[in-house]
Amino acid sequence: MKKSIVLLLVVVCVTLACHTKKEVKKETPKPYVYEPTEAQLTAGKTKFADLTKDNLIKGRSIYYGACMNCHEPKNINDYGLDEFSHILDNMARKAKLTPEEKNDVLRYVVAIKLSESK
Ligand code: HEC
Repeated sequence: MKKSIVLLLVVVCVTLACHTKKEVKKETPKPYVYEPTEAQLTAGKTKFADLTKDNLIKGRSIYYGACMNCHEPKNINDYGLDEFSHILDNMARKAKLTPEEKNDVLRYVVAIKLSESK
């Protein structure tokens, strides 16, 4: 009898210990932070023949750099291409981008959109 009570206690303790174990949550990256990929480069080249990986890397760093001075990075997938390029006309002025920098941002966004739409 005593033995079974001890055994029961052990089982209860072990069960509780398992349940109270904290789960380690992994931080998942925000879905709209796109790293330049070969797929984007290939897709982007269908629109800009001279597109380089360097364009995409620069575009990305401007998008998550200078463009973040006033607000969180906007989700690229919330905007159509025409809509985005219209917004970018405004925002590039706000962020004081050079024409080359603005172009890199546009190419980065276009490449993402083209590579995602397949
Ligand atoms: C000087 C401040 C400033 C900078 C720099 C800036 N923005 Fe904005 N942006 C704003 C404000 C203000 C709004 C309107 C309020 C909001 O949506 O947060 C806005 C809105 C937006 C929107 C939403 C527009 C809409 O109609 O829904 C997008 C997309 C955007 N910005 C992209 C960019 C990009 C890309 C860059 C970099 C080229 C950039 N922003 C740099 C101030 C800025």
